[in-house]
Amino acid sequence: MSLLQHKDASGNTVSIVEMGARDGLQNEAAHVSAIIKAGLVDRLAASGLQRIEAGSFVSPRWVPQMADSADVFAAITRLPGVRYSALAPNMHGFERAVAAGADEVAVFAAASEAFSQKNINCSIRESIQRFTDVCEAARARGIPVRGYVSCAMGCPYQGKVPADDVAMAVTELLALGCYEVSIGDTIGVGTPVLVQQVLNRCLQQAQASQLAMHFHDTYGQALANLLAGLELGIRTIDASIAGLGGCPYAKGASGNVSTEDVVYMLHGMGLDTGIDLDRLIDTSYWICTQLGRRNMSRVALARAGSVPDEGTCA
Ligand code: HMG
Ligand code: MG
Repeated sequence: MSLLQHKDASGNTVSIVEMGARDGLQNEAAHVSAIIKAGLVDRLAASGLQRIEAGSFVSPRWVPQMADSADVFAAITRLPGVRYSALAPNMHGFERAVAAGADEVAVFAAASEAFSQKNINCSIRESIQRFTDVCEAARARGIPVRGYVSCAMGCPYQGKVPADDVAMAVTELLALGCYEVSIGDTIGVGTPVLVQQVLNRCLQQAQASQLAMHFHDTYGQALANLLAGLELGIRTIDASIAGLGGCPYAKGASGNVSTEDVVYMLHGMGLDTGIDLDRLIDTSYWICTQLGRRNMSRVALARAGSVPDEGTCA
C-alpha cells in the first residue's frame, strides 16, 4: 500500500487538532454554557488530545455562539503539554484572545473571494492585510499563529475553486509567519483525486509538515480524502468530536470528520495519535447528551452497539 512508503519519511505519528469546541459548537442553534464548553475541552484533553481549538474571538454579532470564549478559557483546567488555541480574525480578536490566555491563535483566509466577503466581510487581499497586523503582534509576544484556507475544494457561492488560488493563499499565510496552514474543505465536496491535486499544488509552495487537512464530512468523503492526503505525507488532521459542527457562513455544510473515526482509522493503520479512543468515545457521548444531539461518529455508534474491533492490522 503506497501509504506505508511514506511512513519512514513522514513519521508514524499524526497530530490531531480538535475542532469540536470551536468549529463544532459555533454552529449549535441551542445555547451551550461556557461551563459545558470548558467541560468538553477538559475531557478532550484528558483523552490525549494535545491541540484543542477552544474558542473564537470574532464578532459576537456574527457568531453569537462564540461570544463567551473568554469565559471558556477562564473555566478550563489546563493540562501541561496541551495547546489551547482560538480564532482571531483581526487585532480586536487577537487582543481578546491574548487576554483570555490563548496559547496560539489562528487566522482564517479563503481561496474564494465570495466566501471571504460572506465570512469575514472583506476581500482576500484585505484579510491578508489584517492578518499581517495579527501576525506581527503575535510574533512580538511569542504566540504561534496557525492559518486556514477555506473553500479549498469548492465554494458554496463561487463553485469551483482553482488549485492555484488555494496555493496562493497558502503562500501568503506562510509568508506572514503562520507555522502551519490548514487546508479547509469547508463544505465537504472534495473527492480523493481532487484533494491530491489541490494538496500537490500546495506542496509546491509548502513542506508537508507545514500543511494540515481540515475536511468537513458533508458528502461522506472525509476519511477517503484524509487517506489521500496522508499518502502525500501530510500528518496533521483537524477533526471534531462526534462530528459536531458546520460553518455558519456555508449553508448546509456539516461538521468536520469525527475525531473518533479518524483515530480509529489511523490506529488501524499502525499510526500513532497519543489518543485514548475509549475515553474519546465517552467524551463524544457526554457532549451529545449535553446538547441533546445525535452522535455523528460511526465509530462511536458502532462501539455503543458493541461491534467488535476488527479493523486493526497487526
Ligand atoms: P466587520 O463588521 O467587518 O468588522 O466584521 P468591523 O471591524 O467593521 O467591526 C464591526 C463591529 O464588530 C465593531 O463593533 C467591532 O468592535 C466589532 P461596534 O462598534 O459596531 O459595536 N468587532 C469585534 N468584536 C469582537 N471581536 C472581534 C471583533 N472584530 C470586530 N474580533 C469580522 C469583521 C471578521 C469581525 C466579522 O466578519 C466576523 O466576526 N466574522 C466571523 C466569521 C466566523 O467566525 N466564521 C466562522 C469561523 S471560520 C470557519 O468556520 C472556517 C474554518 O473552520 C475552516 C474551514 O472549514 O474552511 C476555520
Ligand atoms: Mg471548518
